[in-house]
Amino acid sequence: MAWQKVASLGEFGDREVLAVDLAGTALALFRLGTEIHATGGSCTHEFADLANGFVEAADGTVECPLHQAMFDIRSGRALCAPATEGLKVYAVKVEGTDIFIDPEGVHAAAAPGASAPQAGQAHEAAPAAGVTQNGGSLVQKNEKNEKNEKNEKNGGSLVQNYVWPDDDLSLVPDWVYTDPYIYEREIERIFHGPTWNFVALEAEVEKPGDFIRSHVGPTPVVVARAEDGSIHVFENRCAHRASEFCRMLSGSTKEFVCPYHQWTYDLKGNLVGIPFRRGIAGKGGMPADFDAERHGLRRLHVTSHRGVVFASYAPQMESLADYLGPEVLREFEATFDGRKLKVLGHYRHSLPGNWKLYHENLKDPYHATLLHTFLVTFGLLVVGNRSLMLADKSGRHGVMASAKSEAKALSGAAKKEMRSFNEGLTLHEKRFMNFVEEFDSPWSVTMATIWPNLIVQREMNTLGVRQIVPDGPHEFVMKWTMFGFEGDDEEMTRHRLRQGNLMGPAGFLGLEDNEAIKFVQDGMRRVPGGTHLVKLDPQTGEGTADTLISEAAIRAMYRHWREAMGV
Ligand code: FES
Ligand SMILES: [Fe+2]
Repeated sequence: MAWQKVASLGEFGDREVLAVDLAGTALALFRLGTEIHATGGSCTHEFADLANGFVEAADGTVECPLHQAMFDIRSGRALCAPATEGLKVYAVKVEGTDIFIDPEGVHAAAAPGASAPQAGQAHEAAPAAGVTQNGGSLVQKNEKNEKNEKNEKNGGSLVQNYVWPDDDLSLVPDWVYTDPYIYEREIERIFHGPTWNFVALEAEVEKPGDFIRSHVGPTPVVVARAEDGSIHVFENRCAHRASEFCRMLSGSTKEFVCPYHQWTYDLKGNLVGIPFRRGIAGKGGMPADFDAERHGLRRLHVTSHRGVVFASYAPQMESLADYLGPEVLREFEATFDGRKLKVLGHYRHSLPGNWKLYHENLKDPYHATLLHTFLVTFGLLVVGNRSLMLADKSGRHGVMASAKSEAKALSGAAKKEMRSFNEGLTLHEKRFMNFVEEFDSPWSVTMATIWPNLIVQREMNTLGVRQIVPDGPHEFVMKWTMFGFEGDDEEMTRHRLRQGNLMGPAGFLGLEDNEAIKFVQDGMRRVPGGTHLVKLDPQTGEGTADTLISEAAIRAMYRHWREAMGV
């Protein structure tokens, strides 16, 4: 195989396709997130230049600019008429920032619907896995773990290997939390992949015309209720020049008008107005064949359950009930018990840590008994309480649940292990710890982590949803919406708000978690290259644990994460 250098990564700039010349043959190089692929450069229909085509990175497709034939970039397969023949695909390797192609290529299959050799097959003959980033996978698994050896070979190369140490879920490597390639792949495969992402409460868009800005992963979206009462979620990105057109955090409107050139969209995201569309006096304006219907805002799939709205980029999502699984659904429905929600307020703050650390914090009941003086002193979550750390079958969701006890019941031995226990602390506001039993549940506290971006907090009578908005590997934003129910009397609302001081950016408990997450990220950034130990409770393996001294739910989450990421 005679690899030939054809380009460097920097040449992509902010584009996803690049025309390159390979000894007189025109090829197209594609960047799909962190993958690089190469195909023949011309559409097999009428030889239009695919480097001018439209790449859908999330689907891995390119659309020919001339007659809209579509091809699967990874396999070269022709996906729709008028193309009948697939594209040739080429093996790619990346060394440092240089991109090399094997000129021999592989012929892709012909007719739409026919299967073609996968791009990955073309890579089988690629040289040592340690120095390549092949199309298709960031991960090159060799028979033995060659991570260190390979990283030495790379000598600081941009291209790394992502090999889980010894295939052991009780060791989580730092690159899972710190690596920008991994972060990009998470957006593509998790947040923009087959997941239901929390976007809003229905109560936040109560009436037709109401809207609220939200996010799916880091991607800004708008949640709007149309005239017919239906809820729609679309990207906050103008179809004209990509401007983030919706500027208000929430409000009510009849239509969305982009501030830049006033392109106008209805509440379902359809493009309904273009100023000077026909130009002036026969001059200028949009092309006569411009089809406004094809240039609406990019819409996501939407589902809603008990007043909680979720969105997904994936076209074929399972129902929310199936996505949650029966046990997590039961806890979800214990909190969202059918009463109409009433929004009590919001908080928003950023946290200097990787977004997954928040999930881990709430799948780690061990810390809760140790870090939080308030919890242990006032008996909210202590060793010996009846408790459960539930993981769903897939491992992605979890519920930490506990039944409140009286601190007095703590054994002397347990108190000794918990340095945070502080007998001298008392509450001035005695009503703070009141628990009004209102839920059909054996638990006084549940914290549900719903993959990938939602926490449902039911901490006695203070209720809230928290949305995780990742912002790079080292930071995320938490958006909190605190709620009660319609029908709460004034005292109940005051009680929920008062008890809300437990959580939030400066909450009696929340503050400590926020700090702990920062400390973990700082540890990894300042002393990098290590692994985390997640070994507690080996008897449980990965999944539901009935002891607080367990990390089995974190291991379950990483089993799922590895599957989703292909790592
Ligand atoms: S960018 Fe929105 S109208 Fe031009
Ligand atoms: Fe905590």
